[in-house]
Amino acid sequence: MQLTEQEQKMLDGAEGYAVRKSMEILVALGEIYGAKRLIKVGSVQVSGVSYNNLGDAGLEFLDELAKDGKVRVLTTLNPAGMDLENWRNLGISPEFAEKQNLVIKAFEKMGILISCTCTPYLIGNLPIFGEHVAWSESSAVTFANSVIGAKTNKEGGPSALAAAFVGKTPCYGLHLDENRVPDVHVEVKAELTKLSDWGALGYAVGKKAENKIPYLTGIKEADLDELKSFCASVVTYGSKPLFYIKGITPDSEHQPTPKEKVSIEQADIKNAYDSINDQVDDIELVCVGCPHCSINEIAKVAQLLECKKVAEGTEFWIATSRTAKQLADKRGYTQIIEAAGAKFACDTCMAVAPLKGRFKSLATTSAKGCFYSRQNLMKTKMGSIEECVQAAVTGKWSN
Ligand code: F3S
Repeated sequence: MQLTEQEQKMLDGAEGYAVRKSMEILVALGEIYGAKRLIKVGSVQVSGVSYNNLGDAGLEFLDELAKDGKVRVLTTLNPAGMDLENWRNLGISPEFAEKQNLVIKAFEKMGILISCTCTPYLIGNLPIFGEHVAWSESSAVTFANSVIGAKTNKEGGPSALAAAFVGKTPCYGLHLDENRVPDVHVEVKAELTKLSDWGALGYAVGKKAENKIPYLTGIKEADLDELKSFCASVVTYGSKPLFYIKGITPDSEHQPTPKEKVSIEQADIKNAYDSINDQVDDIELVCVGCPHCSINEIAKVAQLLECKKVAEGTEFWIATSRTAKQLADKRGYTQIIEAAGAKFACDTCMAVAPLKGRFKSLATTSAKGCFYSRQNLMKTKMGSIEECVQAAVTGKWSN
């Protein structure tokens, strides 16, 4: 890989430990993937924030970098393992909270915004069309590439952090237009009637796309919440972190329709639900907000929960960014939601909080949420926001 004089100096250690380490990571990645040079990035999203995933070794690694590392571009953070303010309310232990706070301190020292959300595009980290960024967190990466039309590979936590310290990333993969051409045409014949259908669609497309870039036709309309749900699901279950929906996502009209073709029928959507849903009736945890709830979704939950009570023995979490929660406070949604006994889970989510063994069953709107919750040994049910609220107030899944 060709380095500029300044980049070579960075690699030689002229700008300190964190920059040298970062350059080593970026150069190694670039060489593995055949990048010819580094390119500037407009922003970074860093994953690997939960102490539950990092452990002490990860914390040590971050502390070392934080000694002299400062980010050079707008850098936001993925969800942490707990609500940074109300962790007690979510049943997090003081020991865990202490370690998680040390992780956050290290990121803060580096100059990173402690945003703790997987929807950075809703809170101010919003690239423009065609902009190169270095994001980690698969749903956010897919949203950036597909819905915004920015360009990013699916970075890991360390490579995203390295890009933040250097302000650059190796130019390979989805940074190059020739690698952004769709390779499978997915004709969607199924009708999508509720938010979770987009998670089911993502499952079905992901399985059929098998690490290819899908080009979807047959979809007439989609809103932001549906697209963010689809982004999380399609990449979790199989496709590359980029898709096109004809007439809806940017650049879709300029892409060639791929020769390879598959279709998604109503039966594929049903099969997706059958695969994602387990046999379980009693619901111990209901969680909406994977990816993190928009203010629109919070408003809907508040409307459905008005004058209702969450069932005893069931917890209802609304996972969102602190920024969205602040808007919810102002609009009075928080009061309605909390009066019903539901809880905001700001800064965190069901996948990265230390939940293994704590709840036996989960109801959610999210296919990705089900995927990760199974790893936390939960039986899962996926459905609409209405079905999730119903599960929260009855403690049961009703179909
Ligand atoms: Fe976000 Fe957690 Fe889902 S990081 S996409 S809420 S698994």
